Amino acid sequence: MKAAFVGKPGPVEEIRFGELPDPVPALGEVLVDVVVSTVNPVDTFVRNGMWPVPGPWPLVLGRDFVGHVVDAANGFAAGETVWGNSLGHGGRQGAAAERVAVAADRLYRLPAGVDPFDAVAVLHPATTAYLALFTHGGLRAGQTVLVVGGGGNVGTALIELAAAAGARVVATASAADLGHCLSRGADVALDYRRTDLPDGIDLFVDTSGTNDLETAVAHLSFRGRIVLLAGPRSRPVLPAGELYLNDQSVVGFVISRATAAELADAAAALNERFAAGGLRPRVVERVPLAEAADAHGRMERGELHGRRIVLVVRNVADPVDS
Ligand SMILES: NC(=O)c1ccc[n+]([C@@H]2O[C@H](COP(=O)([O-])OP(=O)(O)OC[C@H]3O[C@@H](n4cnc5c(N)ncnc54)[C@H](OP(=O)(O)O)[C@@H]3O)[C@@H](O)[C@H]2O)c1
Repeated sequence: MKAAFVGKPGPVEEIRFGELPDPVPALGEVLVDVVVSTVNPVDTFVRNGMWPVPGPWPLVLGRDFVGHVVDAANGFAAGETVWGNSLGHGGRQGAAAERVAVAADRLYRLPAGVDPFDAVAVLHPATTAYLALFTHGGLRAGQTVLVVGGGGNVGTALIELAAAAGARVVATASAADLGHCLSRGADVALDYRRTDLPDGIDLFVDTSGTNDLETAVAHLSFRGRIVLLAGPRSRPVLPAGELYLNDQSVVGFVISRATAAELADAAAALNERFAAGGLRPRVVERVPLAEAADAHGRMERGELHGRRIVLVVRNVADPVDS
């Protein structure tokens, strides 16, 4: 099969596009013909060694895919359209390949009628958003969430998932993105250059990586939470007294450490939104799998500005070899 892979961690030049043996599904795994994959920031971290992985080497890159089940196995029927978002790390081979073997508890059915290109583009940001809001942020209906960076991929999904759960959503974004935030369900959208944030924030999530905890704590409610998910090099000042005297908390999380059960919980929520016609990506660019290295380079150099790359592994109309 064709795949985009590296022999060892390194720069973009390490990426090879070529033949690797087809995966052989182990007990509990399902063989899938991949239609589309993606490139996420974290895929560049895995490839360049910033997020160390134990192999196997050569390592196929990529976390996310949508594809079709090859042979009936572990409760999945041949031909079913399925997706996954946790390949290519934790000892698992990646998704940027014509075929993948996926543990059945990390494989989910795509609801009928959902475009695989749209779906694959939002799997990573939307799963991140779900885990931030609910798994780590404890958001409940009626609470207020502040989304910093509502125009971005994670921010857009945060707005939509929080609004769908009955939360009140305040988003900050660039002036050009305020309408977008409102269209995805934000109750209030504020230019991020403004400083007059509302009080009574139950959950504060900053996707920009600014992590201004002095501002966050100043506007947090009693027992409010701050979820940190971006800005690995930020060194914010934390008003500790205000925080603990109001039962508030700060929690960090990274999707790479989510358990299979947490990911399955998120997948069920994503599928509910997909089925309702939601979670559509903003800007998607289709790129052939053979050009995965170029896509990694553009992402690493910060040239994508929120544009989602979809790696086209096979044309949907192409017959699937079996
Ligand atoms: N922890 C995890 O598991 C996890 C998972 C996925 C992603 N992430 C991280 O999450 C971050 C966001 O990812 P993404 O895909 O959503 O990126 P993105 O699409 O580029 O979105 C970032 C958004 O932040 C906005 N922004 C920049 N500075 C801002 C500020 N001071 N205030 C408010 N908004 C501001 C940008 O607006 P402009 O374009 O107008 O500047 C942009 O819309 C990345 O750092 C990524 O690595 C973490």
